[in-house]
Amino acid sequence: MLNFSAKQYRKLLITGGSGFIGSNFTRHWHKNYPSDRVIVLDVLTYAGNRKNLTSLEDKENFRFVQGDICDYPLIDELLKEENIDTVAHFAAESHVDRSILEPDAFIKTNVLGTFILLESFRHHWNTQGKPENYRFLHVSTDEVYGSLKADDPAFTETTPYAPNSPYSASKASIDNLARAYYHTYAIPTIITNCSNNYGSYHFPEKLIPLTCINILLGKPLPVYGDTQNIRDWLYVGDHCSALEIVINKENPGETYNLGGDNQVKNLDLVTMLCDLMDELAPDSPVKPAKQLITFVKDRSGHDRRYAIDATKIKTELGWIPQETIEGGLKKTIQWYLDNKDWWQPLLSREYKKYSHKVYGS
Ligand code: NAD
Ligand code: TYD
Repeated sequence: MLNFSAKQYRKLLITGGSGFIGSNFTRHWHKNYPSDRVIVLDVLTYAGNRKNLTSLEDKENFRFVQGDICDYPLIDELLKEENIDTVAHFAAESHVDRSILEPDAFIKTNVLGTFILLESFRHHWNTQGKPENYRFLHVSTDEVYGSLKADDPAFTETTPYAPNSPYSASKASIDNLARAYYHTYAIPTIITNCSNNYGSYHFPEKLIPLTCINILLGKPLPVYGDTQNIRDWLYVGDHCSALEIVINKENPGETYNLGGDNQVKNLDLVTMLCDLMDELAPDSPVKPAKQLITFVKDRSGHDRRYAIDATKIKTELGWIPQETIEGGLKKTIQWYLDNKDWWQPLLSREYKKYSHKVYGS
């Protein structure tokens, strides 16, 4: 573990901290390290929501800055002004279906934006005399490894990259740059490649929140293609604890795969959600909710299966995910039931236009 003593509090810049995982991580960090200074930088795209961090707004050590990771002067100034030692980089365009419709923003934010962030951090780290305790955590995805067949072994940190969507290609290219910055300039980067997350504050376009919300609205539950695609699900709280561990570890320059050992076929997952919603949401309009399952045309280039081998972080750093898939889904459903005023405003005209483009009428 790095030696951050009681007097040496961290000063973190969390990019994309108003999104799904970034906001969970920001709250997680503040809870465990309430004396650390936390700056959230977020441009607030459709996926960013100021309400995700309401509980921190009045904390002395917290500051929100609305801004773009592509804005070099802004980042340069923030790193200097706040004397940042740790960047946790979540900001991204993150939805595969949107990357198929309009890839431009994925290249701009995920590739160019991360490059600008790395460059400004390099400048800052050099100016400060290359301190050993500085860290740049690049939060990435298992999708960079491409698609597995039914019997293929799970992805390890040495699996060759083979991205198949504009989203995963944008993440893959910038993972490579983060890696190169360590090898070329000794910038203390760490890369994590995580499987599909689920939990609170997840924007309604992704499969799990979409299914929960559509059940509450009595709307169809779209499942793509032959419904047998497999994802490896991890509860977002477990992702946050893994990120905390890798930030605190002694040596940078490493990559860690993170996953929950929960490989589930899409149709099984949606069916599980229907059954849980029947039990937990007595007021939902259509019961059993399974009747709402609707088979729709497949996503273009749809990866068949993802599976993560997280042996490295488990054995080297002792990380163990705590949540079972059933326990995590129950918590998630309960959160959506208790927070209708969070998700209802997100189903805006713009969101409906997007849904129409993906699912048709
Ligand atoms: P999200 O879409 O919910 O949030 C992304 C956040 O980034 C939003 O708050 C958005 O406003 C902000 N943002 C976008 N462009 C920006 C820009 N140019 N400047 C500043 N802020 C900007 O995404 P998420 O699901 O929370 O994912 C966070 C990170 O984790 C991403 O890098 C993603 O690739 C990675 N990841 C996600 C998953 C998953 O299952 N969701 C799994 C593994 C890795
Ligand atoms: P998603 O939540 O978009 O995450 P990712 O594409 O990053 O894995 O999708 C999870 C799985 O669910 C993926 O195989 C696509 C599928 N899916 C559907 O079947 N229907 C939907 O409406 C959506 C959004 C996804």
